[in-house]
Amino acid sequence: MTKKILIVGGAGFIGSHVNKALNQKDFETVILDNLSTGAKESVVRGEFVEGNFGDRSLLDRLFSRHNFDAVIHLAALTDVGESVRNPARYYKNNVADTLTLLDAMVDHKVDIIIFSSSAAIYGAPLSNYVKESHPAEPINPYGRTKLMVEKILDDYHAAYGLKSCSLRYFNAAGGDPQGEIKNFKKKENNLIPIVLRSLIDKTGVPIFGTDYSTPDGTGVRDYVHVMDVADAHILAMEKLFNEPGTFCYNLGNGRGYSVLEVIRAAEKITGLKVDAVKSARRPGDPATLVADASRAEKELGWNRQYPSLESIVEHAWLSYSTAD
Ligand SMILES: NC(=O)c1ccc[n+]([C@@H]2O[C@H](COP(=O)([O-])OP(=O)(O)OC[C@H]3O[C@@H](n4cnc5c(N)ncnc54)[C@H](O)[C@@H]3O)[C@@H](O)[C@H]2O)c1
Repeated sequence: MTKKILIVGGAGFIGSHVNKALNQKDFETVILDNLSTGAKESVVRGEFVEGNFGDRSLLDRLFSRHNFDAVIHLAALTDVGESVRNPARYYKNNVADTLTLLDAMVDHKVDIIIFSSSAAIYGAPLSNYVKESHPAEPINPYGRTKLMVEKILDDYHAAYGLKSCSLRYFNAAGGDPQGEIKNFKKKENNLIPIVLRSLIDKTGVPIFGTDYSTPDGTGVRDYVHVMDVADAHILAMEKLFNEPGTFCYNLGNGRGYSVLEVIRAAEKITGLKVDAVKSARRPGDPATLVADASRAEKELGWNRQYPSLESIVEHAWLSYSTAD
């Protein structure tokens, strides 16, 4: 029988790709999003409901109307800098409202949740490659909201039997290879979209630090294709359909690319010149941060279809160059 999934935050960058991937695998989807950073146009399949996931009466109506088999919860505020300036907003939206969602799930007997966690829970990395067993010591409120929800999920599993999987994304990037999902984001936080956006807006791109102990002196990060991230949600959900528990997985490419490599790839794909501006290091930025994603490979059978930086940049560019 077709399974029905509630995608909370499904109008956002990652959620819109998760939604498409689920529909391609014949799941039915309902998308709940308040459009604070997402766009309705990104919801290319399923039923869209505009609203806040902290609104208990809206959740009650949704859970009564549909028999959901699982919830995928991607909704969050994601700007690290803003989380430092306005932590109250982040704890309310990302933690308190998530409790409302979890309580509604428990009351309506929906017992599977996939949660969008983040590499930000690790804080300052102790090694270049980070495994799930790395100490979780986030260094900003955004990262702490993610870690708190992971802990709450452990407790809800122990007490109420809620099955959960926290997916700790590194830098999700790229776009829909078919170009159907466009990029409507007003503000970008990640390097690849910042570089591509600079080509459209004709602005400079600061390179924060050119004297790191990396092959070309610029910071190395893990960029993972958003469709590969989307596939992992389906695998994680299928695991929970068959197995109770609470799990966490790193989702990353497993290899890093430097800022200069990203800039060169963007120039090659677009044929345009990036106006790169050498700048000082930012405090707290490590030289290298790359996922060890071997647990997701082994336990979920996760295989990345698009590991190359060029395909990630190419598909991201497609989402810009075709957006109105
Ligand atoms: N993009 C990345 O590389 C990355 C890395 C690590 C973790 N994450 C996490 O993945 C998730 C998705 O990230 P994204 O990059 O797609 O961000 P995004 O901003 O594009 O998507 C978040 C979506 O949640 C919605 N939303 C926020 N608060 C809401 C609320 N109270 N009610 C209803 N909808 C609400 C927004 O409108 C948006 O559509 C987030 O939880 C983020 O913390 C993303």
